[in-house]
Amino acid sequence: MKILQVTDLHLVTPGETLCGLDPLARLEACVADINRNHSDAELVIFTGDLSETGEEITYRALAGALRELVPTYRLMLGNHDNRDNFLRVFDKAATHGGFVQGVEDTREGRLILLDTLLPGRPEGRLDEARLAWLRDRLDEASDRPVFLFSHHPPFPIHMPLLDRMGIIEAEALYPLLREHGNVRHIFAGHAHRPIAGSWRGIPVSVLRGTNHQSALDFSPDRIANTHEPPAYAVIFIDANGVIVHFHDFLDRTAAYY
Ligand SMILES: [Fe+2]
Repeated sequence: MKILQVTDLHLVTPGETLCGLDPLARLEACVADINRNHSDAELVIFTGDLSETGEEITYRALAGALRELVPTYRLMLGNHDNRDNFLRVFDKAATHGGFVQGVEDTREGRLILLDTLLPGRPEGRLDEARLAWLRDRLDEASDRPVFLFSHHPPFPIHMPLLDRMGIIEAEALYPLLREHGNVRHIFAGHAHRPIAGSWRGIPVSVLRGTNHQSALDFSPDRIANTHEPPAYAVIFIDANGVIVHFHDFLDRTAAYY
């Protein structure tokens, strides 16, 4: 099974820029690259920070750009998003208990898409209602493989400023995943960096956004925005494992044969 992950679009009012870049033009280039190279993907998952401002106009711009996208897609929210404004535009999005979260059952297992948005705050939350929902979805999956998608990484990435903006209830999340026993991978956004590793034995990956990125800076209290290239992830899942390719879709450097 081939799926794609796209994250941290940070759309602003069309025509305006963010960090000296045009987020909507970046998204359109990403969509065009996906259609050109991966129109056969089974699903594209957008892991949050769809908007920079949370304004309704940004979600309308997103809806317009996604009309061009060939594969099926699912949208998740991040800390910059506004749930109410999002749902005004994407009124058919799956919600549970008011949260934009859901599952996709595939032949390779269950994908679980979390809503970690805490309005007005950069941190993520999985309060009791959301943890209870997740517990039920994990129980339903029984021993089938589970793949978790979360805007906020629940694991530390050793960049102190970003780690302070993680999931408040990460310590409550982990026992649920361990209890299920077959969570194969956690895919996250939020950090605007390519990162891979494992968290207490569970493989994890994070990738760059489609607009601006975060500098690789381990300072305690600062992170610069950068113009490192935008990327999306091409993910292959089968019974043997999970492979994540990070694709810099604007890269036009020469190729040699
Ligand atoms: Fe972001």
